[in-house]
Amino acid sequence: MKNLAIFYFSSTGNSLYIAKKAKEKFDGKILYVPSYKDNGSEFENIIIVTPIYSFGMPLPILNLLSNFEKGKEIIVIQNYGGMIGGADRLFYEYAIKNGLKVKGIYTLKMPENFTLVMSPPPFYKNMILKSADRRIDKVLNAISSSNFKLPKKRKTKEQTYLKNMSNWHIIGQRFSVNEKCIKCKKCVNLCPVKNIELKDGKINFGDKCIACLGCFHRCPQKAIIYKNKDNKKRYINPFVNESDIGKDL
Ligand SMILES: Cc1cc2nc3c(=O)[nH]c(=O)nc-3n(C[C@H](O)[C@H](O)[C@H](O)COP(=O)(O)O)c2cc1C
Repeated sequence: MKNLAIFYFSSTGNSLYIAKKAKEKFDGKILYVPSYKDNGSEFENIIIVTPIYSFGMPLPILNLLSNFEKGKEIIVIQNYGGMIGGADRLFYEYAIKNGLKVKGIYTLKMPENFTLVMSPPPFYKNMILKSADRRIDKVLNAISSSNFKLPKKRKTKEQTYLKNMSNWHIIGQRFSVNEKCIKCKKCVNLCPVKNIELKDGKINFGDKCIACLGCFHRCPQKAIIYKNKDNKKRYINPFVNESDIGKDL
């Protein structure tokens, strides 16, 4: 695809994995959304790869839509762990409200990374991973053959999305580090909203958390715990280089 940007947001690598597959197929640049400050006008073709969050989208993706140049045409690949809940339609409506043109929206299942409440059993995660390439190829082939698909008009869970989004900051306030923390500052550096700091030898979580859970999953010591309990599973997509998450490639 000519002059293509593949924008992605990812905290545990699923979206990055899909973005890399899209780059293999179509060429182009992979850009990490929180680092991108422009309006997309320099690109002729745009693909956005994003996880579904609370039947909607992560905050950096929501902001990207409002920062894009009006009239821009986009193709969207959403990935999710369990339930779409109309997130494709909601994305479509938000994109249109922001003056964008949507060529196609595709959804595909990847392993669940919202493991703070419940973790899927490992066999299930492995099963989803094993069949992921098939689903990704199907979507990429549909795009390459211009078999574009748009979500039908239907009820979305916008109110749930907006309510959950307004509570995401609470998740950060429930994080803390235990004695395994070696103060490597990995969490400080990877947080997309700079909500974590090392001050006076202590890791502090602020009130700007956007619930991506990147710090929780990617702490090399598994030292970040939720609600003072260390009983939740971590996840990182095993087919990406963890240190590539958050990079432009
Ligand atoms: C805050 C948050 C909310 C989520 N909400 C949903 C959801 O509504 N439906 C769903 O199926 N998966 C949901 N997920 C799971 C992710 O969409 C899924 O695991 C995705 O593949 C993660 O992509 P990533 O590895 O690129 O970050 C949520 C994850 C997080 C962190």
